[in-house]
Amino acid sequence: MRMVVANWKMNHLRRDAEAFCATLLASYRPVDGVVAAIAPPFPLIPVVSRLVAGSGVRVYAQNAHAEAKGAYTGEVSMAMAMDAGCTGVLLGHSERRQYNGETEATLLPKVKAAAAQGLMPMLCVGETLAQRDANETLEVLRGQLAILAQAPVSPIAVAYEPVWAIGTGRVATVEQIAEVHAFIRKELATLMGAPGAQVPILYGGSVTPENFAEILKVPHVAGGLVGGASLDPAKYLKLLEIASL
Ligand code: PGA
Repeated sequence: MRMVVANWKMNHLRRDAEAFCATLLASYRPVDGVVAAIAPPFPLIPVVSRLVAGSGVRVYAQNAHAEAKGAYTGEVSMAMAMDAGCTGVLLGHSERRQYNGETEATLLPKVKAAAAQGLMPMLCVGETLAQRDANETLEVLRGQLAILAQAPVSPIAVAYEPVWAIGTGRVATVEQIAEVHAFIRKELATLMGAPGAQVPILYGGSVTPENFAEILKVPHVAGGLVGGASLDPAKYLKLLEIASL
């Protein structure tokens, strides 16, 4: 199975989302084995969910809170994300780690809460440039993945996004991606047992229609988590087409 997940981050207003979906749906045809998903900002989740209903395109949240409800001003629960039309949720995106203090301690209950709610968590992991330069990449990833030993939930997906490749136009080399994805596959088997072999591992970080085919050839790469290029419906369609080849 392959997945192409559009992470819109904090972009688009309703009119942009409507225009995006109109262009997407004019050409999109579901292909067996290729999951198309869009992760819009919270206010656009109901809009996108309504527009893509019946098309096969899935909607994910970019984050959600671990608690089911209560006095958490500004937060959105897993149940609310699901109620608005989501079937999955990104967790631990590096921007949330960097700007919102997400850590393994906050992510473990989120992974559990998502799975308990029936939302597929997509756990995002990745090293900074300083960590890569210090040869700490695999240790950092091991630490980020370790929570899965306490939350061996299924279904789940993992996205490897080197922080230095996100939004920079600087994509990881196929050798770097190959090394890390093979490592993650091994870690997942250790942490989760046999089901770890089935977990899709996506690559993210400056994915474009120009480099995606090459990236998809790397062993253990099951698709892309795409920011910048996913804001343009023509590019997103192209990425879906590449994933279907
Ligand atoms: P990018 O973002 O494709 O713009 O590099 C990827 C991501 O952060 O998910």
